[in-house]
Amino acid sequence: MAYAVIFSLLSILGACYAHNITEILSSDPSLSEFNSYLTQTKLDDEINSRQTITVLALDNGAMSTLTSGKPLSVVKNILSLHVLLDYYDPKKLHSIANGTVLTTTLYQTTGSASAQEGQVNITDLKAGSVGFGSGQSGSKLNSTYLKSVKQIPYNISVLEISAPIIAPALLTAAGSDVNLTAVLDKAGCKTFASLISSSGVLKIFQNQMEKGITIFAPTDEAFKAKGVPDLSKLSNAEVVSLLQFHALSSYSPVGTLKTTKGKLATLAPGGGKYDLSPTTSGDTVTLHTGVDSSRVAGTLLDSTPVVVYSVDNVLLPVALFGESPAPAPSPESDSPSPAPSPEADTPSPASTPASSPASAESPAGESPAEGPGTDADESSSKNGVAERKSSTLFIAVVLSVASGVISLVL
Ligand SMILES: *[C@@H]1O[C@H](CO)[C@@H](O)[C@H](O)[C@H]1NC(C)=O
Ligand SMILES: *[C@@H]1O[C@H](CO)[C@@H](O)[C@H](O)[C@H]1NC(C)=O
Ligand SMILES: *[C@@H]1O[C@H](CO)[C@@H](O)[C@H](O)[C@H]1NC(C)=O
Ligand SMILES: *[C@@H]1O[C@H](CO)[C@@H](O)[C@H](O)[C@H]1NC(C)=O
Ligand SMILES: *[C@@H]1O[C@H](CO)[C@@H](O)[C@H](O)[C@H]1NC(C)=O
Ligand SMILES: *[C@@H]1O[C@H](CO)[C@@H](O)[C@H](O)[C@H]1NC(C)=O
Repeated sequence: MAYAVIFSLLSILGACYAHNITEILSSDPSLSEFNSYLTQTKLDDEINSRQTITVLALDNGAMSTLTSGKPLSVVKNILSLHVLLDYYDPKKLHSIANGTVLTTTLYQTTGSASAQEGQVNITDLKAGSVGFGSGQSGSKLNSTYLKSVKQIPYNISVLEISAPIIAPALLTAAGSDVNLTAVLDKAGCKTFASLISSSGVLKIFQNQMEKGITIFAPTDEAFKAKGVPDLSKLSNAEVVSLLQFHALSSYSPVGTLKTTKGKLATLAPGGGKYDLSPTTSGDTVTLHTGVDSSRVAGTLLDSTPVVVYSVDNVLLPVALFGESPAPAPSPESDSPSPAPSPEADTPSPASTPASSPASAESPAGESPAEGPGTDADESSSKNGVAERKSSTLFIAVVLSVASGVISLVL
């Protein structure tokens, strides 16, 4: 039931600023290469999930110079510099205060940019022409404004410019032969790194890296947390499935995770029993397994078509660790839930609009009827505990989404 509420609320929210860059660009065949590369690099999802944005498009000729001989990860970096996190229509371009401005781009948000590398210089040149260049001081304004492609006022503006904007630092490849275990070791995911090596799953991941892969690596703390099953009690095949459950067979950078609706199939074979359901609240993506859930904590590597995240918890698949208490697809069946009190609290989110996720994080606060950490709790299954935790989390999400809706309406 909680799932159903969240998904319907999220879809209402999602519909509020729905633009589709792929569709906008498809009206102009001379921009088809640019459009295709936005899709390949998944920048389309990132653009669609943002508001107040300007996309500087390049025609097919400019794109062929830009892409020739460059790996996709480099092309993505350069194209990220063509997405401005502000709204510029043709009128605003010609009325920039003092005639020149530095504006922040999507590349800045990747975290790998220095302040100037991630910015674009827009300068009103004389005679009605507007120039664009890298924000790095001393850069030439090699690109000029050509024409407007589309404006949806203050949400998205698409402008065509004459040539790519290039910051020299963006041309260096992140390395196509990434050493996955080294990346994981360095980021405090040594346990996961050693498990994938010893189980042979590393080979499976490496084979997938050319075609595209997304890896969710639990931190070393995650493996030490209470409630994590004793891996030595699992068969080798089960360990392999558990590890494969931590990866997707496609490239899903953050913008893509945020815009995903429904379930994600993982590399673990076995159909729906190894699916992940992502939900988004603000900038935080949470993965739900049906048994437990985990925040996507950070991006360790994003080098198209490979993305590696760290996650706070080991993801436990239903196939190995039992059924979810409240599966999304059958809200009608209303099976008796072993954790009734958090459920019972949900109908009145409006009466407690101030509830923050932080206050809801303590299960004890939500269910006074059940004492915190009593022996009764201990004797109930691990699933019961996990379930209560996730129900509480859901309530937190529902409350924050609900207050979002309320504030939007007001
Ligand atoms: C722009 O976004 C706002 C806020 O999400 C939305 O209400 C509005 O309808 C959008 N404007 C257009 C023209 O789509
Ligand atoms: C955007 O439009 C394209 C082409 O019109 C379509 O294939 C795609 O599914 C749309 N994406 C979304 C998120 O609606
Ligand atoms: C424009 O230039 C003046 C004087 O150099 C400066 O004080 C002001 O901050 C500038 N405005 C902007 C928006 O950069
Ligand atoms: C933009 O670039 C031009 C030419 O290099 C330079 O004169 C101008 O100061 C730059 N604008 C800003 C805001 O840095
Ligand atoms: C800008 O143009 C000049 C010559 O017009 C060229 O030498 C330079 O490499 C170009 N810079 C970039 C970043 O494209
Ligand atoms: C990858 O890095 C690990 C150290 O984390 C090292 O032991 C291993 O030899 C490296 N593999 C390759 C192929 O360089």
